[in-house]
Amino acid sequence: MCGIVGVLGNHEVAPILVEALRRLEYRGYDSAGIATVNGGTLDRRRAVGKLVNLSDLLVHEPLAGKSGIGHTRWATHGAPSTKNAHPHRAGPVAVVHNGIIENYRELREELAQHGCQFATETDTETVALLTEHYIKQGMNHVQAAEKTLSRLEGAFALAFLFEGEDDLMVAARKGSPLAIGHGDGEMFVGSDAIALAPMTNRITYLEEGDRAILTRQGADIYNEAGTLVNRELRTIQVDATRIDKSGYKHFMAKEIAEQPAVLADALNRYVDQDSISGPIADLDFTDTTGITLVACGTAFYACLTAKYWLEKLARIPVEVDIASEFRYREPPIAKGTTAIFVSQSGETADTLAALRYCAGKADRILSVVNVAESSIARESDVALPIHAGVEVGVASTKAFTCQLNVLLLLAIKAATDKGELDQGSRAKLLETMRALPGIFNVALDRDSVIETASAQIAEARDVLFLGRGLMYPLALEGALKLKEISYIHAEAYASGELKHGPIALIDKSVPVIVFAPRDSLFDKTVSNMQEVMARGGKVVLVTDAAGAQQAGSDTWKTIILPEVDEVVAPLLYALPAQLIAYHAAVAKGTDVDQPRNLAKSVTVE
Ligand code: F6R
Repeated sequence: MCGIVGVLGNHEVAPILVEALRRLEYRGYDSAGIATVNGGTLDRRRAVGKLVNLSDLLVHEPLAGKSGIGHTRWATHGAPSTKNAHPHRAGPVAVVHNGIIENYRELREELAQHGCQFATETDTETVALLTEHYIKQGMNHVQAAEKTLSRLEGAFALAFLFEGEDDLMVAARKGSPLAIGHGDGEMFVGSDAIALAPMTNRITYLEEGDRAILTRQGADIYNEAGTLVNRELRTIQVDATRIDKSGYKHFMAKEIAEQPAVLADALNRYVDQDSISGPIADLDFTDTTGITLVACGTAFYACLTAKYWLEKLARIPVEVDIASEFRYREPPIAKGTTAIFVSQSGETADTLAALRYCAGKADRILSVVNVAESSIARESDVALPIHAGVEVGVASTKAFTCQLNVLLLLAIKAATDKGELDQGSRAKLLETMRALPGIFNVALDRDSVIETASAQIAEARDVLFLGRGLMYPLALEGALKLKEISYIHAEAYASGELKHGPIALIDKSVPVIVFAPRDSLFDKTVSNMQEVMARGGKVVLVTDAAGAQQAGSDTWKTIILPEVDEVVAPLLYALPAQLIAYHAAVAKGTDVDQPRNLAKSVTVE
């Protein structure tokens, strides 16, 4: 993962780099560093831990200069430590890197034979050392960086800065995204346009294998074959304002609470009266014979939910896969297949690789993304934005419900095209969806009940989540949310699977959270719940009033939500799943917005 930034500017660059890194912290936050060139002298500052540690260090040990590079790290090779933090330096070269240099061991051996000493355990250090090695052989800085780039295997976005060169930066992209920003007599490099937003909205995206030689006057971009190329200069719309918590204790709490508003906004963009409008309306599923949905993590659970919708409503067979498995399995893609890739960040390396595998094989590539300028959006035939707004909390919340929103609309459109949904039923479904934001608001009022239950759930060592039908993917999402922010071990099962093994785990110390609106499958889930209670399991039933009445009073806790049509229940039931995890994490005192070992955008495989 990691975020990188580079500036050839006209002002002191250290505070600009730190602000850009703040906007990139979602990519990793286990250490950070910057390097600048000041009067020809290359120097750097690095600090382990959150960015604030680097800011503090810079107060005591400031770094002057108008050219610089910066990095926020999510460790791959080498533990989080100051010495492993970027920028890495070798003689006159400083480098920041996002990605993995796969042949770094061979390069290290080669460099060792040349007498190079290693100061870190990172793969990136080999890039700096190799460049220094070529400079010692007589190459100029640009030639040395280019020669180094030609030796690298793996995925990388890189920026190089050189001692004695106040007006030169080399940047390169292979596998990891990199944006070039154009200012007035200033140039910028960043992992994404959001990092550069306060400086410029004029962006050129490097393509695979591109490298750029930057001065303050502009950038010369060369493709992998070494040919000077023109890449489109786009004026993009990204919000330059600092996102704040608006009075909430955590971004996650704010983003959970925002869901009624963002869902209402997203619906307005896709639904007009009783029909679907916008880019989904332009899609035709008449000849679609199969749909393949691919994603990671929470986005994968959104896809799993969509499988139920697409198969039930549109009667189209659906394959769902985890991107990291899909990309190497080389699955056959039948004619008539629409491939859909779901990603909040739009930069997840495995999902992007899976998309590239399908390009040219599937009839069309759709993506469901939150970041409209992302690589996945740009490489799709049609990108469908979820309009969730910036999501800062590492645990995905509003992006999940907004992904579900777009996927349900896709299912409704597909069902209409397949003749499976008449106008009246479609209008009714859309009306149900439009009512959801209001119902969400009512459900948010149950927060204190959920908070009380969660404080007790937080005392458990293991938690099970159960759900059937559309509630099964939600159980998986609930378990993921709980483990990632509270660090409590949690597993999810389809309710019917319990007796095939997991029931052996049940005893009175294990809370079992059951998502079960009173829908067509409710009776079956209640039977599974009884099986749990008969073995001393502590059931937390999340249901509606009718469900609570039917289930009786033997549950440990019951969380009652407003009644909704079962088709849209996954959107509403996402709320207690998120709130249980949130309150359990707060009770445990973990770092809710930036949980350990995680990052918001996973750009390595
Ligand atoms: C969990 C979470 C992750 C992401 C996953 C995919 O809360 O956020 O599981 O869903 O890393 O990320 P995107 O959607 O950016 O492709």
